Amino acid sequence: MEVLAGGRAHDGDAGWPLVRSARRSRWLGPARRDRLGRMRVVDLDRDMSDVIPTGMSPDSEFLFERMTEVTLKATCADPGRWILDVASGVGQDSVALARQGARVVGAEPSARMTAMAEAFGSAHLDADLRRPTWVRGWADALPFEDDAFDAAFCKGAMDHFDDPEAAVSEMARVTRRDGRVVLAIANFDSLACRVTRAIDLFRQDWLGLGPLRGRRGYDTPSDHFTRYELDLMKEQARRHVEIETVQGVSIGWGLPGWATLVCHLPRPLARWLLRGLDALARQWPTLADVIVVVGRPRRDSATTSA
Ligand SMILES: C[S@@+](CC[C@H](N)C(=O)[O-])C[C@H]1O[C@@H](n2cnc3c(N)ncnc32)[C@H](O)[C@@H]1O
Repeated sequence: MEVLAGGRAHDGDAGWPLVRSARRSRWLGPARRDRLGRMRVVDLDRDMSDVIPTGMSPDSEFLFERMTEVTLKATCADPGRWILDVASGVGQDSVALARQGARVVGAEPSARMTAMAEAFGSAHLDADLRRPTWVRGWADALPFEDDAFDAAFCKGAMDHFDDPEAAVSEMARVTRRDGRVVLAIANFDSLACRVTRAIDLFRQDWLGLGPLRGRRGYDTPSDHFTRYELDLMKEQARRHVEIETVQGVSIGWGLPGWATLVCHLPRPLARWLLRGLDALARQWPTLADVIVVVGRPRRDSATTSA
């Protein structure tokens, strides 16, 4: 396990109990072998161009804003609490929580992402604020002691993992018994995905038109290993956490013509519409664009990784 320079960045921080010895180390390269020995290529350099349309439209802005808000709020990151950001990417969420006074550790296997996170933290945190600590590590072999954190969250990344359930198990292990594990992931069986798929089938089967080019919103991107929907999320989560809440975020993202419509509406009306749909998503997460599962770590025999 490589811990970046700065892994013990907090001067005089005698409370840094977290980094485990090399016992859990794994080679941090772009390709790994799975349990059956098959070589798998892992996404270590985020390229969101295939997922998020270039030029953020108000519906995309709203979705990412709300997803972040709901996820970070669920961590209850009060000042002084230890929070783990799993697959922290360029570190914007860790930095946001550090700004609230939490002690944040961002765990991320990609050197490129981690370097960006360090730069982002330096640029966006005042000198008197405690910076997040950036640690290089795989989600399914977190280099931390048991019960080290008050909360662990993973936002928009589980579908990039080659062993996501082991990651949930690890998050539960490193989170205190009364802490929170927060998982936020895109729902590929959302209302928008279902309607878009139905429209595409209608075009093909009834109108006899050829298939549309490019990836459709309901197709999983090439750098995803898992196609998440509500039942799968709950099934993977509940083996390792006692689920407390399941919340949906936003409805309609990616529907054909939706971004254009929202762009053309007066901004207050667009926000009102997006908020209304978000309120529905809270009630019916199965229809939502993003699902956020929050739970307490389980400490029984069922918590062994899959
Ligand atoms: C789409 S980004 C999400 C980053 C961040 N959580 C956010 O919300 O912006 C996915 C991240 O997962 C990381 N990743 C991919 N495979 C991983 C694994 N097995 N363990 C931990 N992180 C992984 C990638 O390096 C990338 O930074």
